[in-house]
Amino acid sequence: MSDTLTRFAQAKIDGLAARSLARAPRPTFRQDGVWVERDGRRMISFSCNDYLGLSPHPAVKAAAVAAIELYGAGAGASRLVTGDHPLYARLEAKLAALKGCEAACVFGSGYLANSGIIPTFVGPGDLIAVDELAHACIWAGAQLSGAEVVAFRHNEVADLAAKLDARRPAAGRVLVATDGVFSMDGDIAPLDALSAVARSRDAWLLVDDAHGLGVIGGGAGAAALFPGAHIDLQMGTLSKAVGGYGGYVCATRPVIDFIKMRARTLVYTTGLPPACAAAALAALDVIETDAARVAAPLTKARRFTAALNLPEAQSAIVPILLGAAETALAASAALEAQGLLVAPIRPPTVPEGTARLRIAFAAGHPDEAVDRLAEAVRPWIAR
Ligand SMILES: Cc1ncc(COP(=O)(O)O)c(C=O)c1O
Repeated sequence: MSDTLTRFAQAKIDGLAARSLARAPRPTFRQDGVWVERDGRRMISFSCNDYLGLSPHPAVKAAAVAAIELYGAGAGASRLVTGDHPLYARLEAKLAALKGCEAACVFGSGYLANSGIIPTFVGPGDLIAVDELAHACIWAGAQLSGAEVVAFRHNEVADLAAKLDARRPAAGRVLVATDGVFSMDGDIAPLDALSAVARSRDAWLLVDDAHGLGVIGGGAGAAALFPGAHIDLQMGTLSKAVGGYGGYVCATRPVIDFIKMRARTLVYTTGLPPACAAAALAALDVIETDAARVAAPLTKARRFTAALNLPEAQSAIVPILLGAAETALAASAALEAQGLLVAPIRPPTVPEGTARLRIAFAAGHPDEAVDRLAEAVRPWIAR
C-alpha cells in the first residue's frame, strides 16, 4: 500500500474497527418484505422500513413494470429540462391531497429533499434551529445553507423558545426543523407546541415525516395527530411505508413553485425514474384504502412493548437502548442466531453511548414472531 489515500482510508477503518464501529453492507435478499435471506439463512427481519409490505405488493410491482414499458427505465434529464414525465403531476397531486396542502414537489430521495429544501429558504445571516435527534439529512441541509445552526434539546419546546429568543434579533429568516416520528427513537415531536413557538417568533416550521406516512394518523402521517399545528414544509419519503424510492415536500403553491425553480437537488439532478413514481402512486392507493394494513405496524409494536412492560410504542419503531457499541453488536448477533434479524445501530447514527437495537414493526409480522422477538430481547433489557 503505497499511495497516501489508500493508507489514509485503511487507518480510518482500523480506528473504527478498534471501537466496534466498522460497518459494511451485507447482501440481503428480501423475499417477501419480512422474510429475508442472508448468507444462505432465512430470517425474519425487524429492520426494514417497508412497514406495510408494499415493496413486494402485486399492484405496486405491476404499476412499476407498466411505467417502465410506457416511459422507459429512466427520466433522462433533470425535471426542468425533459425529465418531468407525466406521472410526476399525478403523484404530486396525490401527495398534496393526502397532506392537506396546495401543492407538492417530488425529489429523487428524502435525503435529496431535505438537503435541497433547507438552503432554498435560509442562508447566511439566517438561523435554523434543529432538534438534536433530527435526521442526518436535515443537518446536511442546514450545513449546506450557510445559516447559523443551533440544536435544541430533543422535543423540548421551552429550550427551542429560549434558543430562538436568544438569537432572533441578529437573524434574518428563521427555520425550525424536526422529525415528525424520530427515526432511531420512534417517538413523536410535539408538533402543536413547536408550531406555536415557531409562529409566535415568526419562524417557519419544517417537519420530516419519513416514518409517519402510512403508519401514523390513519396513514396521513404525524401531522394528522396535531390538526391545529401550522407546518410550512411537510417533507417525507417514498422509501419507507410507501415501499419504493423518492422524497417529497408539500406546502403552498408559491413555496412549491419556488422550490422547483431553485432547490439545487432538484435542478441539478436527473428526475426520479418513472417506475418509482408509478409504484408510489399505487402504494398510496393502498394506504388510502386498506385501513387494516395501515393500523397493523403500530398494533404489532404495541404488542411488543406491552409484552416487555416498555413505554407504549408511539410508532412502528421501538428502540432498545444498550449503551456500548459492543453490546449492540452482541445483542444483534444473539438474535440473528435465533433467526431474528435486528441490525445494531451505533454512532454516528445515534449519539455516543446510546448504541441500540432499533426494532421496526411491519404489517406482515406474525404475532408469534413478535412474541418470539420479545422473549429473545428480554434478557438484554434486564442487564
Ligand atoms: C427521518 C428521515 N428522514 C429522511 C430520510 C431519508 O429518506 P430517503 O431514504 O428517501 O433518502 C430518512 C431515512 O433514510 C429518515 O429516517
